[in-house]
Amino acid sequence: MKLSINKQRLSGTIQVPSDKSISHRSIMFGSIAHGPTTIKNFLRGEDCLSTLAAFRSLGVAIEDDGETITVHGKGFESLKPSEQPIDVGNSGTTIRLISGILAGQDFTTELFGDASIAKRPMARVMTPLNQMKADCTGRDGSEYPPLTIKGNKNLQPLHYEMPVASAQVKSAILFAALQATGETVIIEKEKTRDHTEDMIRQFGGHVEVTGKEIRLQGPQTLTGQEVVVPGDISSAAFFLVAGLILPNSKIILENVGLNPTRTGIIDVIKQMGGKISIEEEGKNNKSGRITVETSQLKGIEIGGEIIPRLIDELPIIALMATQAEGKTVIRDAEELKVKETNRIDAVANELNRLGADITPTDDGLIIQGRTSLHGGNVTSYGDHRIGMMLQIAALLVKEGDVELEKAEAIAVSYPNFFADLEQLYGAGGN
Ligand code: S3P
Repeated sequence: MKLSINKQRLSGTIQVPSDKSISHRSIMFGSIAHGPTTIKNFLRGEDCLSTLAAFRSLGVAIEDDGETITVHGKGFESLKPSEQPIDVGNSGTTIRLISGILAGQDFTTELFGDASIAKRPMARVMTPLNQMKADCTGRDGSEYPPLTIKGNKNLQPLHYEMPVASAQVKSAILFAALQATGETVIIEKEKTRDHTEDMIRQFGGHVEVTGKEIRLQGPQTLTGQEVVVPGDISSAAFFLVAGLILPNSKIILENVGLNPTRTGIIDVIKQMGGKISIEEEGKNNKSGRITVETSQLKGIEIGGEIIPRLIDELPIIALMATQAEGKTVIRDAEELKVKETNRIDAVANELNRLGADITPTDDGLIIQGRTSLHGGNVTSYGDHRIGMMLQIAALLVKEGDVELEKAEAIAVSYPNFFADLEQLYGAGGN
C-alpha cells in the first residue's frame, strides 16, 4: 500500500479506538461471571473479535447489537468443550489469558493462531499453569502453539516469582487462581498493567496488591457487570507523536484511558520536552482528553521500571526520538523481541531504510536524533504497531514514495486508523 507522505499542520480531534486489553478482558470476565455483562465501546478489532469467537465456541451466549455486547455468563463451571480447535488469530492476549481459564476446566482444548502466534513463547504461561496441576503442552513437545490445554478441576494454588514482566502471564495465573482452592501469591518482576486486578474487583471478587506482590484466595464467584471501555492510550500514541513531530500541528485525543500502569509514554513525552496537556475526566480519573502540539524535543534515556508502562509504545517512541535533538537510548526492553514480530529489529531495519540512524542492541535501541527521512519500501512484518508507526514516519517524508507491505495488519487494533488520519489533514493539514 502507498502511504501518505509530506503532511504538515495535522489538526483536529480524534476519538481513539477502545482499549484492546480491557476489551479482551471484558469478554473473559463476562463469560466466567454469573449473570449478564454488558459491554459498551468494545473494540471491534481483529484481536478482540478472536476472543469473542473463542468464548462463543466454549458455549457462552454472546449477543452483539452493533452497539452493546451482552455476555450471558454462567460461571467457570458452565464452559463447554469447543467442537473445533480455537483460532486466536494474531492475538497473544487471547491465547495466554484463555489458557488460565481453560486450566481449571475438566476438558481439553486446542489453541492455534497465525504464523506470528506459532512463534510466540508460551513456556511463560505453561510453566506456572502446570505447577498448578494443569497439563499444557506445545507443538511437538516445544513451547510453541498450537497449544493443548488439558484442564484440571482440582487446580492447586501457586506461589510464583515471575521471571518476566508480563501482564499476560500474570493474568493467566490469576484466572487459574480464581478456580484453585487456597491462596495464590504472585511476585511481579516489574509492575505491569493491572486491568485484570481492577476487573476482578469490579466483578465483585477480591485481590490484594502490595507493591509487586499480588494475593488471591480461591475459589471465587464473580458477578456480571456493566463495562464501558475507555480509549486505548497505545492507539492514541501514534497521533500523540504525530502531533509532536509534524510542523504546525495540534491534535486533541478524547477519552484516552489513563491507568497509571499504561501512561509511561506521557512521562517520556514530558521528559523529552514535548508540549502535552491532560484534562482528566470521569469519577475515577482513569480517562481524559490529551492535547499535543509541535515541539522541540530532546533525546533521553529510557529503561528500568518504566518499560512495562510503555512497552507497546516503544516503536512510535523510537520514531519520535529520530526527530529529537541528540541521542535516545532505550534499554531493558528485550521483551520487544517476542511481540507480534521482533520489534527491536523491525524498528531499526524499517526506519533505517527510510534514512534513520538506529542501532539495535540486545535489550533495546540507540537512536540518533534529528534525522531527515526519505522514501522507500518498508514492511509491517504483519505487526499492527510497526505498520502504524511507519505511516506516521511517512508523514515526515518530503519526497519519494513510501510503500508499506502488509498494511492490513493495522486492523488488529485500529481498524479506523487511516480514516482518523485523513480527518486530521481535512481539519487543516495539507
Ligand atoms: C497485554 C500485555 C502486554 C502487551 C500486550 C497486551 C495485556 O504483553 O504488550 O499488547 O493485555 O495483558 P506482555 O504481557 O507480553 O508484556
